[in-house]
Amino acid sequence: MNEHLERRKKLVSEMPKNSLAIIFGSNTQIRNGDVEFPFRQNSDFLYLIGFDEPNAVAIIESDDSGEFTIFCQDKDPSKEQWEGNRMGPSNCRKIGAKFGFPIEAFSEEISKFLINKERIYFQKNLNKLLEDEVNKNITSLKKTTSRTNHFIPEEVHSIDLLLHEIRLIKTKEEIKTIKEACEISSAAHIRAMKNVCPKMYEYQLEAEYVHEFMKKGARNCAYPSIVGGGKNACILHYSDNKDLLMDGDLVLVDAGCEFNGYASDITRTFPVNGKFSRAQQAVYEIVLDANIECIKTVKKGLTPNETEKKAIEVITQGLIDLKILNGEINELIENGAYRDFYMHRVGHWMGMDVHDVGSYGKNGNWRKYLPGMITTIEPGIYFKEDLKNVPKEYLNIGIRIEDDVLVTEGDPEILTSSVPKTIKDIEKLMSS
Ligand code: GLY
Ligand code: MN
Ligand code: MN
Repeated sequence: MNEHLERRKKLVSEMPKNSLAIIFGSNTQIRNGDVEFPFRQNSDFLYLIGFDEPNAVAIIESDDSGEFTIFCQDKDPSKEQWEGNRMGPSNCRKIGAKFGFPIEAFSEEISKFLINKERIYFQKNLNKLLEDEVNKNITSLKKTTSRTNHFIPEEVHSIDLLLHEIRLIKTKEEIKTIKEACEISSAAHIRAMKNVCPKMYEYQLEAEYVHEFMKKGARNCAYPSIVGGGKNACILHYSDNKDLLMDGDLVLVDAGCEFNGYASDITRTFPVNGKFSRAQQAVYEIVLDANIECIKTVKKGLTPNETEKKAIEVITQGLIDLKILNGEINELIENGAYRDFYMHRVGHWMGMDVHDVGSYGKNGNWRKYLPGMITTIEPGIYFKEDLKNVPKEYLNIGIRIEDDVLVTEGDPEILTSSVPKTIKDIEKLMSS
């Protein structure tokens, strides 16, 4: 609760005086018929409030030193019989709220918070229904307060810029949790390398990950696992995971757990039969080199663009060495010749969301890495089967190697280093 209070205090210190933040939680979503998707709280809400029930809204006032009011599901014994316990507004002190109201009272109560505020913040396009309620209330208050000694805020601002800058720099507590998530995911990749074998279905390898995540205390995946054998590895967000893994193929697995609300994001590519072929080795070494060199750039004062440039440079040179690209390296880079084979970016912020919030720069300028930021480093090379001018031996090879890296005052800290990534270490583990 203290950690959440500190976060709200930080937010409030960045809000102008006499302003108000309205933070929406998530609602449940129907999967099919009357079956719901597993509930996942909105990350902004979880970050500031730590309350994990659907149908909730928190109000944080700038002059309140981090206190808040919660609107949440009312107690209802018959509903709770089916869906589980609800906290209920009257128990709101349990989560550190000053006042609690049933969510049904939101439309009626919100006007009391809006009046005489100079600025309102909320997350736009998250909860259309409640967003409309806020806007309707502003419009009607404007009418009822016209020519009185009250005033109504002129506009509603997005809270994203303020809040997401705060979320970008992780606290000690957050780093500790993310490290645990990374450790669990690393153990799962090791388990998969040990258990994979030809004629296993991709989803059966996926089961090794889910088993290890849950066994180690992570209830969920941070994103749908990608388990792509052979040519499926060339589809960047492949998640059907329904084909057979074949002897002689590589399998690319991009899988990470979510632990206590925090993501991890690891990709390893390994041979289904435990041994890399010569062609697979040649491509793998380029991607590994790019991964290692890019990680070195994750340093205070450098920028994500320098990391990207390094990935492009190493991959382009590697493709020249494989004789897939021909020409002068700077010219090839200038022309984007690598894009048929490496078509995504090399990394993204990671935190409560796997593709975490926070800007990468503004006005055409890249921002500098700062201690407490966490980025993934995930170069890849993909040779789709229809590519022209690529020797046959390389076609259908897709390789990505992804680690999660913490920016520190000194050298980058790799949070996923316990999963092997050199050919030697992978083959050794797989033969053990
Ligand atoms: N797992 C999604 C990504 O690597 O961006
Ligand atoms: Mn990633
Ligand atoms: Mn990934």
